[in-house]
This record gives sequence, structure tokens and C-alpha cells, in this order.
Amino acid sequence: VIDGEEIARIVDAHSALEGPLLPMLHALQEAFGHVPAQAHAPICDALNITRAELHGVITFYHDFREKPAGRHVLKICRAEACQSVGGAAVADALLAKLGLEWHGTTSDGAVTIEPVYCLGMCACGPAAMVDDRVVGRVDAAKLEKLLAEVGA
Ligand code: FES
Repeated sequence: VIDGEEIARIVDAHSALEGPLLPMLHALQEAFGHVPAQAHAPICDALNITRAELHGVITFYHDFREKPAGRHVLKICRAEACQSVGGAAVADALLAKLGLEWHGTTSDGAVTIEPVYCLGMCACGPAAMVDDRVVGRVDAAKLEKLLAEVGA
């Protein structure tokens, strides 16, 4: 359940900051696990920005979610070093197998697949992160094993 008072409190707490939008979005995501649609109007009112501007910011920064994530989050690196060693193919194959798009969550709510842009593991790409655990040299089999390990 999304608590409107909590949204108002977070929006208020950040609106006087210089550059308030990103800290506000981070705080909302921290509180709710995503940036709830119910927060859009209060944010736009508080900061005097349009819905289109807000949407642009939320979608530009890949860290923000517009929907709650699954129980586990698998991030696959899409930055250059990982792409150059086959990261895209590994990601595409997994998404196809799960029938998901980027940011999608499996129907049982087990896992959400998200892109990430460098995990600091460029020398052992393709890199991925399952919840808080970073893993190098992933391939299709390794990703499946990781997902199985977390019960996804
Ligand atoms: Fe993938 Fe740096 S480019 S970890």
C-alpha cells in the first residue's frame, strides 16, 4: 500500500534542497522500492516541473523503478567493456528465455532484470549483479545457476 502521507513527507523534506529532484526520487524509491505514480503530482507541484520533465528524469537514470521489483534483482552490465565480450547476447538470451523486456519481472514475482552501466568488473566481463552480489564472466548457464540459487 502506498502511503500518501509518507509521499508528502518525503517530498516536503527534500523540496527546499538545491537540486531537490534526485534526492527526492532516491528517498521515494528507498521508502517504497520504486517511485510510485502517486508521487508524480506532488513532486511536479512542489518543484514546478511538468510531468514530461519528471518522466524524462525517471527514465534517464536507470536506477529508478516505476514499478516494484521482484524478490530478487538481476542487473546485467550493458556498458562497453562487457558488451565487447558478449554481454548483449547473454542478456538477450536470458530475456528471451524468461519472456521479459528490460525492467521486467517474472510473473511469479521472483526476479526483475535490469540493465546497469558498469559494475567495476570490466576486466572480467560480462558482469552481472544478483541482489548485492557482483559476478564476473557470466554466460547463460551461469546466470541460470545464479537465479536458481536465489530461488528465482
Ligand atoms: Fe561492465 Fe564495467 S563495463 S563492469
